[in-house]
Amino acid sequence: MELSLIVPTFNEGPNVRELLRRLADTLDSTVYEVVFVDDSTDDTPDIIRAAAVDSAAPVRLIHRERPVGGLGGAVVEGIRSASHDWCLVMDGDLQHPPEVIPQLLARAARGDTDVVVASRYIDGGTSDGLANAVRTTVSRASTLLTKAMFPRKLNGCSDPMTGFFLLRRSTVDLESLQPRGFKILLEILARRQLRVSEVPFAFAPRFAGESKASFTQGMRFLTQLTMLRFGRMSAFAIVGGLGALANLAIMWALVAVHMPYVWAAVVASVITIVANFLALEYLVFADMRADSGRMWHRFVKSFTFNGIEAIVRIPLIAVLVERAHIPSVIAAAVTLIAAFVVRFVFHALVVYAPKKRRAEAAALAPAVAASDELAA
Ligand code: GDD
Ligand code: MN
Repeated sequence: MELSLIVPTFNEGPNVRELLRRLADTLDSTVYEVVFVDDSTDDTPDIIRAAAVDSAAPVRLIHRERPVGGLGGAVVEGIRSASHDWCLVMDGDLQHPPEVIPQLLARAARGDTDVVVASRYIDGGTSDGLANAVRTTVSRASTLLTKAMFPRKLNGCSDPMTGFFLLRRSTVDLESLQPRGFKILLEILARRQLRVSEVPFAFAPRFAGESKASFTQGMRFLTQLTMLRFGRMSAFAIVGGLGALANLAIMWALVAVHMPYVWAAVVASVITIVANFLALEYLVFADMRADSGRMWHRFVKSFTFNGIEAIVRIPLIAVLVERAHIPSVIAAAVTLIAAFVVRFVFHALVVYAPKKRRAEAAALAPAVAASDELAA
């Protein structure tokens, strides 16, 4: 079996030579290449180039000047460029011990599987190398949540969050993947029913450097999970829903300290418009940002839309309060719900329209205008 090893790296310089050394020791009877997909901001690319010269196995470096999709995007790019059909994905920090690879290969050689997952959560595996108890708990809980959301597709997989796996590229539809952040195996398994098997492994402590996991990665993961399961509109709805709750909470607090309710509604709206835009940029539409022009232009479009919406909505609140005698917060809630649908259509089709598909967006403009009118 010929093998392409895909190693995503972000500032992992001190780990490169050690990784190549242990791979060479372990894989002496296997034909393999190593593809580093690197988004580093330090001298890691130079270290990889220098190490490639001394390496017995071919080592390739893909350095991405404009990284897309984070760690997951890097993995997909590596798989796409691999020379062999069997691709092994592993971290560059030696938390995934190279010595486990022969067992993954042996499992794949039995011929009844598309993906062999190196799992921390079956007999013989451990996650002791995770930095601390908080990370262990977060990892366990998110594994449970993920498995509950995809009970059938993840049936044979105890560790969908691992970044250590062997897969046959020809069984995966790379074009259908929309990687964002860390959990690319989850997306691969969630998109298409694959035959999964597992081999246990002990997640080791980092050899050198520090982890790139963060709160933001956690938020990206939750967005990814929502979008995979329920689609983009539901992620948009959750962000909008949280925004609406924040809007009402701010308004309630300001009214409670005796700000006139119209001013309270204005302040609450401005704060939530900005927060909402940031959540759309970095979570819901993160995969479409690269193709849809400048962030500044998107902000202007989004802000203008929300501004117009607020300008329409706030007098409407006044009408509902003064004429229909509905409590102000309830009136605000009613108008927020009405605005939601229009807002989703506008953002998905106009704000995040791919530049190439301008013509199509123009064709949809009458529909947007119509739904706008409807909501108004
Ligand atoms: N190219 C690229 N771009 N590589 C990245 C990026 C990125 O934006 N972010 C992280 N990496 C690389 C790191 O350099 C490392 O080789 C690997 O991806 C994993 O990143 P770590 O920072 O070491 O993450 P971790 O140890 O917290 O997470 C690992 O454990 C998880 C299981 O709990 C990863 O293996 C995850 O894939 C795994 O799910
Ligand atoms: Mn790591």
